[in-house]
Amino acid sequence: MTDQELVALAVEMEQRAYVPYSRFPVGAALLCGDGTVFTGCNVENAAYGSTICAERTALVKAVSEGRTGGFSAIAIAGQGTDFCWPCGACRQMLYEFAPELIVLAARQDGQFARVPLSQLLPHGFGPKSLDC
Ligand code: THU
Repeated sequence: MTDQELVALAVEMEQRAYVPYSRFPVGAALLCGDGTVFTGCNVENAAYGSTICAERTALVKAVSEGRTGGFSAIAIAGQGTDFCWPCGACRQMLYEFAPELIVLAARQDGQFARVPLSQLLPHGFGPKSLDC
């Protein structure tokens, strides 16, 4: 699957976003090494802090289906003028399972940036950090 195809899946997922409060739909598509893709969207809540981002929706779907590794890339799409970068909580959650992940962050005009998660979360705290 190409980067463009993965971004297209993320853009498609914006339609599923439940965003009555922010009106800011986000879609995500998480690619596994074997070609499987887990998609997600943001799902908001009247108790605003209970909202889950698109990236974490996709990741939690994958983990709950038994995938805890082998992720290669995630595309994130929003309608902002800037690239839709993952929030801090999403960076941390992704780092747990995929410290080497490639992040494709797309914006409203369809352009996207391609950066490694390690650049977005340098010196991340992961499973190995708990070794004593
Ligand atoms: N949002 C995401 O889905 N992913 C991010 O990484 C950034 C923010 C969502 C959360 C909320 O529903 C809306 O965008 C506005 O913050």
